[in-house]
Amino acid sequence: MRKEKLEVIKSSIEGEVLVGHPLAKETYFRIGGQADMVFPADRDDLRVLIEFLAEEEIEYRILGNGSNLLVSDQGVSELVIKLNNLDQIEIMGQNLKASAGVKLPVLARKASAAALSGLEFAAGIPASVGGAIVMNAGAYGGDMAQVLKRVETITVEGKEKSYTTQDFNFSYRDSYFKDSDEVIVGAEFALTEANKEEIEEKMAEFLGKRKASQPLSLPNAGCIFKNPKDDSAGRLIDVAGGKGMKVGDAMVSKKHANFIVNTGSATASDVLELIEKVKDLVYNDSGVKLEEEVNLWED
Ligand code: EPU
Repeated sequence: MRKEKLEVIKSSIEGEVLVGHPLAKETYFRIGGQADMVFPADRDDLRVLIEFLAEEEIEYRILGNGSNLLVSDQGVSELVIKLNNLDQIEIMGQNLKASAGVKLPVLARKASAAALSGLEFAAGIPASVGGAIVMNAGAYGGDMAQVLKRVETITVEGKEKSYTTQDFNFSYRDSYFKDSDEVIVGAEFALTEANKEEIEEKMAEFLGKRKASQPLSLPNAGCIFKNPKDDSAGRLIDVAGGKGMKVGDAMVSKKHANFIVNTGSATASDVLELIEKVKDLVYNDSGVKLEEEVNLWED
């Protein structure tokens, strides 16, 4: 991005601006080239930024928590905006209001402390609220679609907008917001009162299952492929013999075959090559065409 424009952004917003920041530091995969980044201080700061970017016709991307993302080795030319400073949570009776940058495990713990049930499934999902809504993140039978009540966005012109249940258009790992150019700034969840110990037990059970079945100790981007209808991508890759397959330092996890782990200094092109190899392997073995779940950022 042009230096003068970045200087204007620096002087007009409160949040931090980083020039040529390595996105590998922002992704769970620990992979990705550089981009210019802005971390708006709050919702107003974000609005000022979005209005400026619209006036100047500067393109941008919103980064969630970087846990379901593969960034190209060349980085991206668009400005990257991270909303981690939009981190407020408010309890209103049985409803929970959260800003887009709140992390799901934090939100799930807040709900459980208030004896509110519905977000137990989210305790181990390393997503931001905004990213989880876009992807309709889910686990262990729960997903965002089941608990989300309202979503607040800022449009490309900097106007505030509010959406309710009938607008979300949720399906498996998909939502209205995936193809929208609006920025999610906050959400409201409808939960139910329940016994605190039971909520905690459920959360602990889900966290235990996740730890037992997923390779959480190595950098990864969650499940790489969507599950085909009535089957599991992990099972299909496993029976095809894909576990342990490698390109460079990118390896199909030996613990869960739908995860690719970065065993050292894997590049995005290693991962992309491995993804193609896994797809070919599964297609030749079972005739199933796997589709990526992981988001890819490249120019
Ligand atoms: N399986 C194998 N080999 C493997 C992996 C799995 O045989 O290497 C078998 C398991 O034994 C089980 C079945 O496949 O019988 C399903 O596996 P698992 O319970 O681990 O669930 P999954 O279908 O692989 C889905 C979600 C996960 C979510 C878990 C738990 C997708 C693509 N994956 O995984 O979500 O955490 O259920 O609910 O929907 C993600 O979206 O990034 C993600 C990790």
